[in-house]
Amino acid sequence: LKGIFAYLNYRVTRTRREIFETLVKGLLRLEYRGYDSAGVAVDGPKKTDTDNNKNTTCIFKTKGKVKALDEELYKKDSLDLDEELNIHFGIAHTRWATHGEPSPVNSHPHRSDKENGNVLSCSHTKFTINKGYEFESETDTEVIPKLTKYVYDNRENDSITFSTLVERVIQQLEGAFALVFKSRHFPSEAVSTRRGSPLLIGVRSELELTADNIPIQYNGSEPFEQKNSHNRPDSSAINSVGDGRPVEYYFASDASAIIEHTNKVLYLEDNDLAVVNGGKLSIHRLSQQVGEDPVRAIKTLQMELQQIMKGNFDAFMQKEIFEQPESVVNTMRGRICFDTKTVILGGLKDHLKEIKRCRRLIVIGCGTSFHAAVATRQVLEELTELSVMVELASDFLDRNTPVFRDDVCFFISQSGETADTLMALRYCKGQGALTVGITNTVGSSICRETDCGVHVNAGPEIGVASTKAYTSQFVALTMFGLMMSEDRLSLQKRRLEIIEGFRVLPELIRKVLALDLKIKIIADELYEQKSLLVMGRGFHYATCLEGALKIKEITYMHSEGILAGELKHGPLALIDKDMPVIMIIMRDACYTKCQNALEQVTARSGRPIILCCQDDPEISQMAYHTIELPHTVDCLQGILSVIPLQLLSFHLAVLRGYDVSNLTVFHMQ
Ligand code: F6R
Repeated sequence: LKGIFAYLNYRVTRTRREIFETLVKGLLRLEYRGYDSAGVAVDGPKKTDTDNNKNTTCIFKTKGKVKALDEELYKKDSLDLDEELNIHFGIAHTRWATHGEPSPVNSHPHRSDKENGNVLSCSHTKFTINKGYEFESETDTEVIPKLTKYVYDNRENDSITFSTLVERVIQQLEGAFALVFKSRHFPSEAVSTRRGSPLLIGVRSELELTADNIPIQYNGSEPFEQKNSHNRPDSSAINSVGDGRPVEYYFASDASAIIEHTNKVLYLEDNDLAVVNGGKLSIHRLSQQVGEDPVRAIKTLQMELQQIMKGNFDAFMQKEIFEQPESVVNTMRGRICFDTKTVILGGLKDHLKEIKRCRRLIVIGCGTSFHAAVATRQVLEELTELSVMVELASDFLDRNTPVFRDDVCFFISQSGETADTLMALRYCKGQGALTVGITNTVGSSICRETDCGVHVNAGPEIGVASTKAYTSQFVALTMFGLMMSEDRLSLQKRRLEIIEGFRVLPELIRKVLALDLKIKIIADELYEQKSLLVMGRGFHYATCLEGALKIKEITYMHSEGILAGELKHGPLALIDKDMPVIMIIMRDACYTKCQNALEQVTARSGRPIILCCQDDPEISQMAYHTIELPHTVDCLQGILSVIPLQLLSFHLAVLRGYDVSNLTVFHMQ
């Protein structure tokens, strides 16, 4: 959720103004993740007379928008904005308060001491320290620069390197983090590291890079530099990128902040230490584990900046909802052949035999990604003829759920970085199960750590609320079912009907999107309400959960997804003429049961807004409002029924006065 951006220019002359602009722009690209304060740390004027020519470090922090920080930067007249800096390292950060209220002092970056020692930008940590250091903020993060100072103050001699210092610090840390360190004791050097939170480095050079792969340097307990200079004198030439020629490095928690500068990036793995010294980038780890990849590749990102821009829409979320006719096609492209009626998921085909032999499927995710598992459970049970468990990653871990070698575990994640899902993946791997990733982010941790997987290809999802990733996950999981059932004679009729449903899906999604105006009118009636219930069953239970999640997440209204079959076991008590209720009643196996629920609601004077199929007068006449959807095969109908709720939540949020692009929504990465 928090965003890190850092920029190092080496022998590329930039004015301080240009450096500020780069840092601020980096933060703006990360804004969509939600935040409540922001800060930067840059070199201040040199203190030539007093302190060995060391730089001072200036930190600027503000509560609120990056724009406020930007204004603050230009207010300071102590810094010469036109000063040209040939080598400089600046770091920037947005924060969403978890420990300590949003305030300048609690904003990141944090410093080791008031005299401007080490400064770092950091995301998401859990740690405690009691060494008598004076803390400035209420954040847990500040422990890290304080600990760094402690390690520095207690160094055995003055030849300690910056990377050794950081290496010793992270060995003391528990939990997830992404960190970028800057220090006046090591001017123009950058050290960064991550565990559980994403961090990548972009490299820009006018000249050809010296390497595409960086071999990792394993340090044992010795400081890196000593090892390089004494034992392997020429190692820096082969173990790093950059050879002292002009180069720029961009560190970010998200590729969207880097892509406008360079498409050459390196993804750090957990516990990697990336060091830039003298313009050279090298990667270090303590020791090599069996089977571990001994190099880190510099990859070329395919993502275009325009792909992540808002276009003509008011918010990314709205743009992404309207992209769904295309995003579902991208999920199917090259996988479903409508002529031969075959489905092949390239990422799974080599493991298909093993998957078919398994005892059960366990589908694991958080939030919206979990709902995609709920939405497709029934069709997966039907097409795979296996037992399918769907699990919220956090609960799955809390229960130490028994997992066996003959289980196949699916991990659903838009970002591919969600900490609970990643931990569940590592747990299942530890139990010997085959692991399959269903993600939307190439190169993400879940992609890399699973045995095999499917990329849903929905395109970058910038909006804070997941929309198109959900429908693409839905499509991908259903395609998996189709692939599993290819040779089951008894299932052929069903398969053909689903494949035909996929063929016409984009057109039907367009028809649903055309209802936007009607949905906006319903939102006009609802936006002042306190609460909104969403009811349905069967294939639409997931839509209820997902619709309610969207509503609470971006409109800050209370909303609850209720399984209609549970109505009589308690929730009916909530229904009266004032409680807004949305009911999903489609022509499928649950139709009569849903009609029954509808009668119970109207008997208590409820005034339901009903999502139903076109031409269903029986249902329409009992509704306060209807939203009529085109009909498709039952197991795909949920793709259509969720879209009105995505649109409704968007309109409700706007009407309630929220800036949907800049909502602070809590998604832990
Ligand atoms: C809701 C939403 C979240 C995410 C959840 C998992 O709109 O976006 O509920 O679905 O945080 O994230 P991923 O899919 O990236 O693992």
